[in-house]
Amino acid sequence: MLFRILGTLSKKVSDAVYRAALAMKPQVVFVLGGPGAGKGTQCSKIVESYSYTHLSAGDLLRAERGREGSEFGQLIDSYIKEGKIVPVEITINLLRKAMEETMKLDKEKFRFLIDGFPRNQDNLEGWNALMRDEADLRFILFFDCSNQVCIDRCLERGKSSGRVDDNRESLQKRIQTYLQSTRPIIELYQKKGKVRTVDASRDVDEVFADVKSLLDKEG
Ligand code: ADP
Ligand code: C5P
Ligand code: MG
Repeated sequence: MLFRILGTLSKKVSDAVYRAALAMKPQVVFVLGGPGAGKGTQCSKIVESYSYTHLSAGDLLRAERGREGSEFGQLIDSYIKEGKIVPVEITINLLRKAMEETMKLDKEKFRFLIDGFPRNQDNLEGWNALMRDEADLRFILFFDCSNQVCIDRCLERGKSSGRVDDNRESLQKRIQTYLQSTRPIIELYQKKGKVRTVDASRDVDEVFADVKSLLDKEG
């Protein structure tokens, strides 16, 4: 009898521990799409209505570039201007730190939109080596639109963004990087049934209506 009670008790405790561990494990949605596809815009809207934290790899890299004393400032700056993908050791550390800080401040904040990552094979390998077992990758939210729409939106954004890469020359390189390095990553996840595609060529609210129904379905 005592053993039965102890057995039930320990199962209950281990279930609770298991649930707690599961609750603590970050849940991740990778957000991908061409430069200017609207990833950041849609992520901001998602955050308003759902309990997700938005982490943009590009924003984190730009912040690191501007951080006084950063040993990577110059390297990041030249990669961004060239539309190249920064070595994953740098990016994954920034992402991991941001996730840890978010979860330390508020344990309920364990759902993340990771925007603009993984952008190439190196990013993917870095994630798989360091984070795959630490986080649950739920799916990839893919904002799909033509290169021309991407370029037009970035040029328009460039009028006020102050970004060193929202110009024709950098954009040509960014589109090349997207086609050569990022599309194959999206295709890889597509084969695993992980990609949820949204037509991003329409206006912001139409795109968001699709995003909402998709997120509501995924739970
Ligand atoms: P990304 O993060 O994918 O590079 P942004 O969200 O920064 O893209 O959007 C790029 C530019 O296009 C911004 O100036 C933004 O206001 C604008 N934009 C975003 N989504 C749309 C849309 N659906 N239709 C028109 N313009 C958009
Ligand atoms: O996503 P965003 O447009 O902000 O990215 C801007 C630039 O930041 C990219 O063109 C690239 O140079 C760099 N970046 C990167 N690795 C990532 C995301 C962004 O090197 N995973
Ligand atoms: Mg962005």
